Formats: sequence, structure tokens, C-alpha cells
Amino acid sequence: MEGMNVSKKMMMTKASVSAFAALAVGGACVTSAWGMGGNLSTKGEALLNEACAKCHAIGAEGSSKISTVKPFRDIIASLPADDLGNVFIAAMTKKHTQFAFEPMDAKAIGDYLEKLKLHIDSSNK
Ligand code: HEC
Repeated sequence: MEGMNVSKKMMMTKASVSAFAALAVGGACVTSAWGMGGNLSTKGEALLNEACAKCHAIGAEGSSKISTVKPFRDIIASLPADDLGNVFIAAMTKKHTQFAFEPMDAKAIGDYLEKLKLHIDSSNK
């Protein structure tokens, strides 16, 4: 039975999901149905939930926890749809110097906000 000595090298791919998992567990983990369908936008939602939701409403409904603070859906409604994520982050940076996002996180946030905008636009028809 020579040649049967196949050593199966199991590639243990430890997906580095720990950072995101921590966010998902730490937050209230409210993932909206329309926001799903992509890890990126789910991650974007989790990031906003973690960092922004204590002041801003981040979803399609509900008022901000601080009533004088604009919900994100109102902010994005006045922003150009093109390159929404980066435009939004730039607007954020003007108001908040304490927040900064890595490019991939900014992309995830953009992805989530684009889904939110699409969702709102389609329910306004
Ligand atoms: C401690 C409360 C607080 C937190 C946390 C917070 N914000 Fe804000 N944010 C405000 C206030 C107050 C304003 C100014 C009033 C307004 O425009 O609603 C503001 C304004 C903004 C604006 C500008 C709105 C405009 O009309 O131009 C953006 C964009 C923004 N925030 C994004 C974010 C993002 C993204 C996060 C999370 C990373 C965040 N904020 C977290 C309180 C907060």
C-alpha cells in the first residue's frame, strides 16, 4: 500500500474575526434585516452602533438618544450618493476629531449607509 501515505495537512485557518465578534457581542447586536446580506455592512452597522448610537440614531427608524442630535438617515439624505461613505466620514471628521476609522472600517460604514439610503429611498416611493 505504498503511496497511500498521504499526509493531510489540515490548514487551520483561524479567521481573524475576534475584533468584530467582540463588537457584535458588546453591542446590543441589533442587525436590521435590510442591512444584512453582506458582512461588510453588518460590520459597518456594528461599528456605528458601538461608537455613535449613544447619541445618533443609526437605523431607518427612531429618534436619536440625544434628541438634538441628527439621526444618520437625515445626515445622509443631504449628502451626495456618490462615494457616500467617504463623504460621510469627512462630515464626521469636521464635527468629531475624536473618531477616525481605518480604510476597511470606513468602507464597511459606507456599505451600511448605502444600504440604509437605498432602503429609505425605496420606502419613500
Ligand atoms: C456624545 C454624542 C455623540 C457621539 C458619540 C457621536 N456624535 Fe456625531 N454629533 C453629535 C453632535 C452633538 C453633533 C452636532 C449636532 C448635529 O449635527 O446633529 C454631531 C454631528 C455629527 C455629524 C455632522 C452632521 C451634519 O449635519 O453635518 C456627523 C457626520 C456625525 N456627527 C457623525 C458621527 C459618527 C460617525 C459618530 C460615531 C463614530 C458620531 N457622530 C458620534 C454628537 C455625537
